Amino acid sequence: MGRLSELLSGARAVVAFTGAGVSTESGVPDFRSPGGVWTRYDPRDFTFSKYVASPQVRARAWRMRREFWNVIPGPNPAHIALARLEAAGRCRGVVTQNIDGLHQAAGSVTVVEVHGTSREVMCIGTAPRAGTPAGCGFRAPYRWAFERIDAGEADPGCPSCRGIIKSATVSFGQNLFPGVIERAVALVAEADLVLAVGSSLQVYPAAGLPASAARRGVPLVIVNDEPTPLDPLATLVVRGRAGRVLPHAVDAVLGADISG
Ligand code: APR
Repeated sequence: MGRLSELLSGARAVVAFTGAGVSTESGVPDFRSPGGVWTRYDPRDFTFSKYVASPQVRARAWRMRREFWNVIPGPNPAHIALARLEAAGRCRGVVTQNIDGLHQAAGSVTVVEVHGTSREVMCIGTAPRAGTPAGCGFRAPYRWAFERIDAGEADPGCPSCRGIIKSATVSFGQNLFPGVIERAVALVAEADLVLAVGSSLQVYPAAGLPASAARRGVPLVIVNDEPTPLDPLATLVVRGRAGRVLPHAVDAVLGADISG
């Protein structure tokens, strides 16, 4: 049994912390790898304040989202391995930076989406003050917006208050949604092992969660294709593809997944 399997075997309250790298094997690009989203688009063009101020920025953001969601991704073996670990009572849940909903699609039940979800859109109001959505409460599945985009509406408005509609995600320059980081902190506080998968661990406050756990003496395992700033804090660093490393380790702990 490899070192990762040994550590997982000895843990009873794993908390996974995931980033875009856990979804790349589902065909969803990450952000900072070669070819990642921020190597093709400038993140400074997609800040909350620019989105609020400019119908042109909103139209471009909808075109980008529409392009990304042309092919609906499905969960890959990495997502499924984490869901198996939770179902077996070994994992308390996932704190994810991802907005793709693939952990839930794989069967994970406790999922804290610290950067929101692209599976829904929401009203952020007509003139939200810097960084904080101030909508009327309207929310809808993302298909609601895509139907309007496909019908030629470049920048769909809220049907209730005519406010601005945005995906229910957290953009640069936007505050995290109230209560979410508190839920993530509470979940990580339960951990006897934090398993960080597929994240460059550069974006705060999210990356502060595995960092503070490690500094409290909770074993931190990092599974990532490339080095991260938190590697020195890790009990174990596994350089490799999440879709291969995680199923292999979870199979060693739980037995092979015969569900197919
Ligand atoms: N297996 C393991 N590691 C992978 C895989 C894979 N299949 N694919 C990519 N990686 C690694 C990359 O090497 C990279 O270090 O995953 C990491 C992904 O890092 P980022 O692209 O920076 O994504 P993430 O850490 O999730 O970014 C955090 O930044 O732009 C914001 O809101 C956005 O939530 C995102 C946040």
